[in-house]
Amino acid sequence: MDEKSLTDEEIKKIREDFPILKRKINGEDLIYLDNAATTQKPKSVIERMENFLKNSNANIHRAIHTLGYEATTMYENAHKKVANFIGAKSMKEIVFVRNATEGLNLVAHSWSSRFLKPSDEVVLTIMEHHSNLVPWLIMRDKIGINLKFIKLNKDGVLDLKEAESLITKKTKLVGVIHASNVLGLINDIKPLREMARNVGAKILVDGAQSLPHIPVNVKELDVDFFAASSHKMLGPTGIGVLYGKRELLEEMPPFLTGGDMISTVTLQGATWNELPFKFEAGTPAFVEATGFDEAINYLESIGMERIFNYEKELERYVYENLNSMDFIELYGHKAGDNLAVFSFNIKGVHPHDAANLLDKFGIAVRSGNHCAQPLMNYLNMDNTLRASFYLYNTKEEAQKLFVALEKIYKLFNR
Ligand SMILES: Cc1ncc(COP(=O)(O)O)c(C=O)c1O
Repeated sequence: MDEKSLTDEEIKKIREDFPILKRKINGEDLIYLDNAATTQKPKSVIERMENFLKNSNANIHRAIHTLGYEATTMYENAHKKVANFIGAKSMKEIVFVRNATEGLNLVAHSWSSRFLKPSDEVVLTIMEHHSNLVPWLIMRDKIGINLKFIKLNKDGVLDLKEAESLITKKTKLVGVIHASNVLGLINDIKPLREMARNVGAKILVDGAQSLPHIPVNVKELDVDFFAASSHKMLGPTGIGVLYGKRELLEEMPPFLTGGDMISTVTLQGATWNELPFKFEAGTPAFVEATGFDEAINYLESIGMERIFNYEKELERYVYENLNSMDFIELYGHKAGDNLAVFSFNIKGVHPHDAANLLDKFGIAVRSGNHCAQPLMNYLNMDNTLRASFYLYNTKEEAQKLFVALEKIYKLFNR
């Protein structure tokens, strides 16, 4: 095995760290392949949050007592941990939000209100998750901007030729999903960033599916905004990150308002707290912040490069197998440096029935439209099954999936 990947021994050890992987589902070992929806948590994350609640719980930025000081320090350190993990210049560029969705909404609402006027254009891709589409539909109706969409070329990847013609002097922002939650495709950000830069537009990246799986450095990517969720990268729900270039965040108005995001308040008006707290109104998810911090410790202790390399091995293995099964219809997946995320159907079997039967084998997959209806319509896909892998999944688990798929096919096609 590639020494830059994970060894069988390591995977075994990693699996020991995740208590839920010991569960039986319908009498079978759990095979959890719904990682694009949310990921499982290692003991260290669970214990860190439990420890915080048992020993350090207090609100942040409010009290000078010992617990308040400890909680505040841990909360701010979690910002620093995320900043370091993604290569941001400082924690001032790291806004804690509820999830990627809230981060994307923050940009759509706050940045647009300051920088967009009627007839300005925002260019998105046909691949966007609803969370980087619906907020822009709202802005279109509110401000009167125009939206344009980059589609796929005949090779099934983003059509950069079309992008060149869509991104013009009227474009103020290009919004792009880094990795598709439906197809597993990883989009090359650089050419889109260059096109955006050439016309003076900003670039926003939805990193909800990329940050958990591939090494990301926002300095190298040189994008203006990047959003992700902790729960998709071994951390708890209720917390996510919006990275923004400092000079932009400084100029943007607050999104939500209230406690903690202000500097001074009178009955006539208010001034804002310094970054990132200007965008963190109210009591934040400080318990979850410690879990997010610990999730990053866990990922860093293994190394994102090695995690990605291991997942690429899984991706190739699963792709080759699914692609060779004549009773499987696999949608839009390209072998290569993509995520181990597969949308497919068993011929003649509704995906909800298939997902239900897979559950009888202890296998958890998603079925549905994956919050990307425009992409599904564009590719003439209806509902599908989606199997999405992470660092604790194995080829043996994939084999059990293949066997179960064949059994289900035979059951329906006797
Ligand atoms: C590509 C992508 N963007 C955004 C989101 C939204 O993430 P969350 O629900 O954590 O806000 C998801 C969730 O599946 C996603 O896959």
